[in-house]
Amino acid sequence: MNNINENKTYKKFYELDHYERLEYIQKKNQLSDNDIKLLKEIPDSFKFDIINRMIENAIGLYPLPLGIATNFLIDGKEYDIPMVTEEPSIIAAASKAAKIAKINGGFITNVDESIMIGQIQLINFKLSITETINIILDKKNEILNIANTKSKNVIAQDLQVKIVDDESDNKIGAMIIIELIVDTKDAMGANIINTMCENVSVFIENITNGEVVLKILSNYSTKRISRCKAIFSKDEIGGEKIVDRILAAYSFAYSDVFRAVTHNKGIMNGIDSVAIATGQDFRALEASSHAYACKDGKYRSLTKWSKNNDGDLVGEIEIPIAVGIVGGITSVHPFAKLALKILGVNSAKELSSILCSVGLAQNFSAIRALASEGIQKGHMKLHAKNIAVTAGAIGNNEIEKIAEQMIKEGNISVNRAREIIKMDNR
Ligand code: MEV
Repeated sequence: MNNINENKTYKKFYELDHYERLEYIQKKNQLSDNDIKLLKEIPDSFKFDIINRMIENAIGLYPLPLGIATNFLIDGKEYDIPMVTEEPSIIAAASKAAKIAKINGGFITNVDESIMIGQIQLINFKLSITETINIILDKKNEILNIANTKSKNVIAQDLQVKIVDDESDNKIGAMIIIELIVDTKDAMGANIINTMCENVSVFIENITNGEVVLKILSNYSTKRISRCKAIFSKDEIGGEKIVDRILAAYSFAYSDVFRAVTHNKGIMNGIDSVAIATGQDFRALEASSHAYACKDGKYRSLTKWSKNNDGDLVGEIEIPIAVGIVGGITSVHPFAKLALKILGVNSAKELSSILCSVGLAQNFSAIRALASEGIQKGHMKLHAKNIAVTAGAIGNNEIEKIAEQMIKEGNISVNRAREIIKMDNR
């Protein structure tokens, strides 16, 4: 893509400054001055420079609402939890669940150390698989030393080797996969592990006479599992009948993949919202969680629900969570830094315990609503308010009044909202 600047020299899009980029896309896509104004609006705290260093070809900011989930008591500590989401009801649902869990001591978690795996794929080795693996294992300490030369904090602790048969149509034969086992401490670890894998790959090629293809972190973080448990008192959730209906909902999600995907999506509603607010790689969390949901060969619910001797509902979640409080965008994104400050977390493990607690809370509220009054009732009010705003209602009083009237009439539509506004203004 070439653009002509005032000096009639050609520049690539990435070479243009912010205003030149806006001028270019305005002309090319027939955007109005108001459209461009949206892209120019960048708060002082968030300079264009920061955005432009975070991604390529940046043109502006895409805002999403940031809210706080309240009432969370996790491992005896109270938290205000920042969540970024565009979906109504998520934050209210999490806060409500946390309020009920708090009565019985809140969320109790157990989080693994921050152990991640880096993978190095070796093909075209000249000796047999066994001989090649033995060479690698003989040189294990040297490989680990090379991996650890660049970093003092994050340490490759161990190395393991596995054989992976090619199950694709390529039929390239068996591959040797060398895995670095790395303690990433308070970092998510992607960058450092990728660097470690790249650093050891030439040495591995030399000792094996083989060819290294991929050298990359695995996002399937099964050595970094977070577990959480909470008790939800039956009296707070509508009695034992509702508890039994929630258990039936769990049985459905455990046993049927179509339901399990939606059930787990609800869990990720909470986890992703906190992950986005705190600058985490939520795509990694998603990929890893869904793979973990299949760990016994069938995609199942990531939570487990049961009833205790008092008839109260017991919720448990077990989920891989790879997050960091240092490095990545956590140290450059002003809002991610702020979210971490609000949380007051001291370690990646503490952040993991918050994420899995929010996931459990979110799932509780979703299945409780589904197993009792249904999900739409809770959504209705916010939906009606949004419709009222779309129709042109202004100010809390007017928005509230129109929303209530539409809910009462059972007719929530922009047309009906417009009629009500018109009638009120007569
Ligand atoms: C909606 O975003 C999430 C739910 O569908 C989750 C669920 O069904 O458990 C309500």
